[in-house]
Amino acid sequence: MKTGIDKLPYEWLEEIINAAAERIVVVDREGIIQYINGAYCEFLGTTIDEAHGKHVQEVIENTRMHMVIKTGQAEIASIQSINGSEMIANRYPLYIDNELVGAVGTVMFRNAQDWLDYSRKVQPLLEELTYYKKKFEKELGSKYRFEDLVGENKAFLEAKRLAERVSGSQSAVLLLGESGTGKELFAHAIHHASPRGAFPLVRVNCASIPEHLLESELFGYEEGAFTGAKRGGKMGKFELAHRGTIFLDEIGDMPLPMQSKLLRVLQEKEIERVGGRAPISVDVRVMAATHRNLEEMVQQGKFRQDLYYRLNVMKIDIPPLRERREDIVPIASILLKKLAHKFNRQGIELSANVVSKLQHHTWPGNIRELENVLERAVNVLDGRVIYTSHLPLYLQDEPVLLESRVKMEVSENVFSCNESEVRPLKEVLAQAEKEAIIQALDAADGNKVEAAKLLGIGKTSFYDKCKLYKIN
Ligand SMILES: Nc1ncnc2c1ncn2[C@@H]1O[C@H](COP(=O)(O)OP(=O)(O)OP(=O)(O)O)[C@@H](O)[C@H]1O
Ligand SMILES: [Mg+2]
Repeated sequence: MKTGIDKLPYEWLEEIINAAAERIVVVDREGIIQYINGAYCEFLGTTIDEAHGKHVQEVIENTRMHMVIKTGQAEIASIQSINGSEMIANRYPLYIDNELVGAVGTVMFRNAQDWLDYSRKVQPLLEELTYYKKKFEKELGSKYRFEDLVGENKAFLEAKRLAERVSGSQSAVLLLGESGTGKELFAHAIHHASPRGAFPLVRVNCASIPEHLLESELFGYEEGAFTGAKRGGKMGKFELAHRGTIFLDEIGDMPLPMQSKLLRVLQEKEIERVGGRAPISVDVRVMAATHRNLEEMVQQGKFRQDLYYRLNVMKIDIPPLRERREDIVPIASILLKKLAHKFNRQGIELSANVVSKLQHHTWPGNIRELENVLERAVNVLDGRVIYTSHLPLYLQDEPVLLESRVKMEVSENVFSCNESEVRPLKEVLAQAEKEAIIQALDAADGNKVEAAKLLGIGKTSFYDKCKLYKIN
């Protein structure tokens, strides 16, 4: 094969080599120097004539060129000390027509300073890389720990203890509980405490991905697998979760054909990309969650029994909020702290009436509903205390037994504000007026003219009062 290099004048070749590698040495199979450039000789305190034809070990201190001829293996960026300087050397075996004929060695950096100058240029790039890596890990990683799972209720503590125990094992975990009970929090905490905690936790919402995309989402695809397939293909969630955990959320919504494919992966521990030829082995722990009754679904033929058994190795039942009423206030307190931080409003409290309302509501949306109720209240709040008027109407309208209200006031000293406390009449009237306005605005969906009508007062007077009480 002609490369055209023979067309270059000889002097050019010499200069090209000098420019490409400041110091360069070439040895034959016996380690005899066949070529060495002037810069290298100068550094070594010798001359080209003197060095040429000598064994490399006689000329270059600490050289390993004779090793490269033996092993046929390149040595990249190895540190070599010559004349008291630590230099970075690259050594390559020289193959001509598939035959090892010698080796070529270059010195990349003449001294540590050169290396430092170079690394200073590389450093920002490395930092950028680390930043993106961290960001990526954060997105894939787990956000919650066991200590974030608040609650003292017996059934809840049992679930938490079981979760802590299973985090050490490799078994599949099935998290069951109504919507908003904290299934995802549990999954995060288990993953984080497990030996896989440093690897990704990858969540797949089986309910929100269209059926025809679920397979490629989970298993990835090869380039050209279908029209619109990305160049180079795409990794699926299982591959992304390698060495970590895959969290199959809303597993009860997974279509039957996909269930069969998932079962195969769990059994074989191998995935096949869509349009792929060879299976790829993956090391992934599976956690699944659903608010559906899987046993019932199995009986109805909507969920594969064998898959159910596979996933159900460790089942964790998270109780609904209405069955752990003693936890409502502590959870509300934690949520309020988070909201205070988010809205930059410190020291928000619940009035005793509100505490009572919260304790008696049935919470079909569980902790997520509680979170929403509190966030809404903080949003419409001017002062520091959340009163009943700050709650959504459906909660305001729920009757509260006087007996339990009194009990709450005694037991809940966390929320110090007591609505039955005697206050100056002016203050009470102002508060009542303000609450009435908020309520009217609520009922009128924020329409001020409508709200004024509901209260039976004039528009101007309504606007004045809104201004007075800082209601927008
Ligand atoms: N024990 C807990 N302590 C504090 N906050 C909690 C707790 N459990 C859940 N939460 C909060 O409640 C909200 C709902 O939790 P999560 O998303 O885990 O529920 P889920 O069971 O996955 O619900 P869904 O079935 O609707 O997906 C989250 O915002 C979470 O911060
Ligand atoms: Mg969830």
